Amino acid sequence: MANTNDLDGVVPLAEALSDPTRRGILTVLAREGYAYPGSLAALLGVRATALSHHLRALRRAGLVVAIKEGRWQRQELSSPDLRAALRDLADDQEVEGLFLHGLTGQRATVQPQHAPSRIPSTHPHHQPRDLTREQRDAFRRTATLSRLAKNAALAGKGPAPVHPVNTPRYQPERLMHSPVATHGLRSLSLFSGGGGLDLGFERAGYEHVASYELLQDAANTLTKAHPEWQVYGGDAGDVNNVRWSQWKGKVDVLHGGPPCQPFSNAGRQKGVLDPRDGWPAYLRAVRAVRPLAFVAENVPALVSKKFTDYVEQLITGPLGRDYTIYQLLLRGEDFGVPQKRRRVVWVGFRRKRDAARFIPPTPTHAWVEPGQSAPADLRHTMGVREALGLPDIGFDCLSPTIRSTLTGPRHTTSILNSTAAQRTFAKLQVWPNGVAADREHARAFVAANKHFRLSVPDVALLQGFPQDWPFQGATYMQLGQIGNAVPPPIAYSVALSVAATLA
Ligand SMILES: C[S@@+](CC[C@H](N)C(=O)[O-])C[C@H]1O[C@@H](n2cnc3c(N)ncnc32)[C@H](O)[C@@H]1O
Repeated sequence: MANTNDLDGVVPLAEALSDPTRRGILTVLAREGYAYPGSLAALLGVRATALSHHLRALRRAGLVVAIKEGRWQRQELSSPDLRAALRDLADDQEVEGLFLHGLTGQRATVQPQHAPSRIPSTHPHHQPRDLTREQRDAFRRTATLSRLAKNAALAGKGPAPVHPVNTPRYQPERLMHSPVATHGLRSLSLFSGGGGLDLGFERAGYEHVASYELLQDAANTLTKAHPEWQVYGGDAGDVNNVRWSQWKGKVDVLHGGPPCQPFSNAGRQKGVLDPRDGWPAYLRAVRAVRPLAFVAENVPALVSKKFTDYVEQLITGPLGRDYTIYQLLLRGEDFGVPQKRRRVVWVGFRRKRDAARFIPPTPTHAWVEPGQSAPADLRHTMGVREALGLPDIGFDCLSPTIRSTLTGPRHTTSILNSTAAQRTFAKLQVWPNGVAADREHARAFVAANKHFRLSVPDVALLQGFPQDWPFQGATYMQLGQIGNAVPPPIAYSVALSVAATLA
């Protein structure tokens, strides 16, 4: 296969689409590690296997994908639907470049020259991608086109809106009642992010002692939500810089979710070798503060076989010397969250008598197919459309797992985690890319396939946050805080069960 790093003679897709006579080769620059063949194929209505073949070969050649043959290439500029789908794809920030080759002749083989990004990283753990100058230029062109389309839409020059502003039906705050009697337990939060655990503990009646979070925007979210909270952000929030003994005797429960990127399936699974591993700092804090109980959460991948040794030797083993530990695997849908979301939670008790009394949280809700009823003792978990207050289209289901994005190789406003997720959102008639800052903007920026475009408050709801939780920072940053969070209703149930044990 020819090396396709030479992009001479390439025109951006949006430009090509404006000329109905143009023919050529479609080139897709897709983000490494994400299986675009399926999503592209689903959008374009072609066989995924045919597309995969080309994409695989091009991944080996360095992320540039040329699809040279196949019926969709011949159709691409003649079918209006396909043109619309492609235009939408060109707006999709996940597909980093989409171009039509005007030339089909031989292309030269060139050695890639790597060029640094001009966009400053906003997180110390952000890992920018290694790209050639041509690739960066291509991305910039696409980003510019995408921005122009969005600005035009927001200035009222795009297609007329097709969806009214939605009024959600799901109100997670109503599921998290504060206890009638105060128990007076005090909680300290590490790796607080946008506050999923913090919110759950607060609703469960805990007195908030302090939060530590490296990312200043996330710390700002906590301060905005609760100006009375003691929040440490940036360097002051770096758990590696804190003298934890200052909190000894002042904290009953310490909670936190050390960064999960080293362990998640979407990450690179380097585990202990990954500098982002926050567990050593978490252990240091527990040892110094000596709380009555700790709560630690992470992605389920951490309890997979691959990490058994890591978990035993570096988490449960050392913590188990002073604490009796329960390992829980919790699902969002069991607590009313309209999303497929799994979290592993460890709860440790310092006193044996507390550990003996602990009763793990039990489901309050159940997801059942529309038209069927939940078991008598459980409330029904809403699907995406019901939760967001969208009209009945005869289909509804839980949201696919929302991805977490803050420290990945690229900042994005898509919440997609997989190709399967793309298919599910398509069936839901919900557009999960280019998430808008608010509902008015989502309504104005019509998706090419006319599906309902999500906004930040909608994504917050799908993660179990109240829609007005004041996430701070740029849109991708707000989405990162949401995607990284423990759904507050899960946090609330765990916090209540711990309070019932200690109080
Ligand atoms: C999985 S998220 C935690 C989400 C949080 N538990 C919630 O429910 O919203 C991990 C957080 O740890 C933060 N973090 C990473 N390294 C850190 C460090 N050294 N000190 C403090 N926070 C850190 C990340 O910025 C991220 O917000």
